[in-house]
Amino acid sequence: MRGVLAALAVAFVGCADLDEPSVAACASCHTVTAQRFARSAHAGAAESELFRALRAREGAQRQAFCDRCHAPSAHPSGGLSCATCHHATGNRETANGRLTWDFSRAPMGRSGEAPHGLRDPGFLRDAQLCGSCHEVEGGPGFDEPAFSEFVRSPAARAGLGCADCHADRDHGFVGREHPEAAARFAQSASVRVQFLDAETLEVTLTNESQAHTLPSGFRLAREVSVVVDLYDAAGRLRETLRDDAPGDDAMTLGERVEDARGARVLPAEGVRVRRAVLDPGASRRWRRRVTDPAVMRADARVEHLRQNAWLRAALGLAPLTEAPLVLAVHSAARPP
Ligand code: HEC
Ligand code: HEC
Ligand code: HEC
Ligand code: HEC
Ligand code: HEC
Repeated sequence: MRGVLAALAVAFVGCADLDEPSVAACASCHTVTAQRFARSAHAGAAESELFRALRAREGAQRQAFCDRCHAPSAHPSGGLSCATCHHATGNRETANGRLTWDFSRAPMGRSGEAPHGLRDPGFLRDAQLCGSCHEVEGGPGFDEPAFSEFVRSPAARAGLGCADCHADRDHGFVGREHPEAAARFAQSASVRVQFLDAETLEVTLTNESQAHTLPSGFRLAREVSVVVDLYDAAGRLRETLRDDAPGDDAMTLGERVEDARGARVLPAEGVRVRRAVLDPGASRRWRRRVTDPAVMRADARVEHLRQNAWLRAALGLAPLTEAPLVLAVHSAARPP
């Protein structure tokens, strides 16, 4: 037992970031902020079961790469810590988790009344802080250019930074766990469905986001689908139009990796990436033939899935229990 403890102590002392203040060190005074943070995607970034399953398939060097962003904190609890952002001093690159830190200096913040002193919050408000992690060049399946897409977006051109929309003085950072997330997500897409003639249905999906592609972030898992329910005159469901994977004409956006024969596979050497996303403000149109004469109405909805079913199944994970978020709905009657 003593041997194990000694080994643990050596492993811990060997860690270069031992002087990093723990979340607990800040939580003792910033109780409310720490409670909100604890529920956020950031606090749980090393604990997501999907992350663990994908990380486990990698060698030690690649795992260290994943950990730069998912477990940058030196503490065994993993995830991000308060210091990850508040003690950052800059970055060596706005990508790939290349932040720099100085834990001996005061945290960045605004109010002058802090017992610990505060540093100018310029970098805390800078989109580059977020972009250091929200821009991943990790090879097929792990290329996530969220920051560079943001830089070209209308929001960035209007002078907004990530913190203007996401921080709102709440450390949930308005991820999907946040109570307002559904409402905010709902503003990020619109859908329009219409019959061009008695047999041709046209569906148009528009990315209404000012800042992000649709979907954005970890697109290997995220999926946005247009689903159309076709009803008869008595309101009975006749058929549901739905595609289950991003493809050339599929009403599903996201990313899939394929082997040389075009079969959907997990990320590996030599795979091809097929990506279907919409830039801010852009639309995509699909046409489908409706031949069933009983169909009188088409109801379209846009679903956002956090982790697509194919990926979870391929990794041996149980299906997700959370329902997809519905971003937008629209209906059309069939012309006689
Ligand atoms: C001994 C109690 C105490 C500890 C421990 C503590 N703080 Fe503070 N902090 C305060 C007080 C008091 C203020 C000023 C009032 C306020 O804004 O909450 C403050 C202010 C701040 C602010 C500025 C708030 C603003 O409105 O801009 C930040 C940022 C901050 N602290 C971060 C941290 C971080 C990060 C840690 C851990 C490394 C930490 N604090 C640890 C007491 C503490
Ligand atoms: C992902 C980066 C990030 C992490 C992690 C983070 N913060 Fe912040 N924090 C920010 C940003 C951005 C702001 C907003 C700055 C502004 O608007 O001036 C902020 C603001 C604050 C403020 C002032 C406003 C408020 O919400 O009270 C305090 C206090 C604070 N943080 C403390 C903490 C503590 C304590 C932790 C850990 C429990 C933490 N932060 C973790 C980025 C972060
Ligand atoms: C104009 C406001 C705005 C700006 C600026 C902005 N975002 Fe967002 N972001 C949103 C909204 C709205 C959503 C959808 C709901 C949510 O999670 O808040 C979103 C979603 C996200 C998501 C989840 C994406 C998904 O599809 O699951 C991430 C990650 C994100 N933003 C990070 C960032 C980063 C990093 C920056 C800066 C480089 C940034 N955002 C700038 C408004 C903004
Ligand atoms: C140290 C790396 C790092 C920094 C810095 C960072 N993030 Fe993140 N962020 C992550 C990781 C990793 C995740 C994914 C966690 C998960 O889903 O398990 C994430 C998740 C998010 C989400 C939730 C997305 C969703 O789909 O629900 C939002 C929103 C977000 N970050 C915004 C920001 C903003 C805004 C900033 C800057 C204030 C920031 N992040 C700074 C690493 C970082
Ligand atoms: C440069 C920083 C960075 C690196 C390196 C990185 N990621 Fe991420 N990862 C992120 C960010 C930021 C998000 C959140 C994006 C979003 O919200 O869609 C994320 C999201 C994820 C998610 C989704 C989590 C969930 O619960 O839905 C998984 C899984 C994941 N990453 C796996 C990995 C693996 C495995 C590696 C290493 C091969 C890796 N990441 C390397 C930044 C990074």
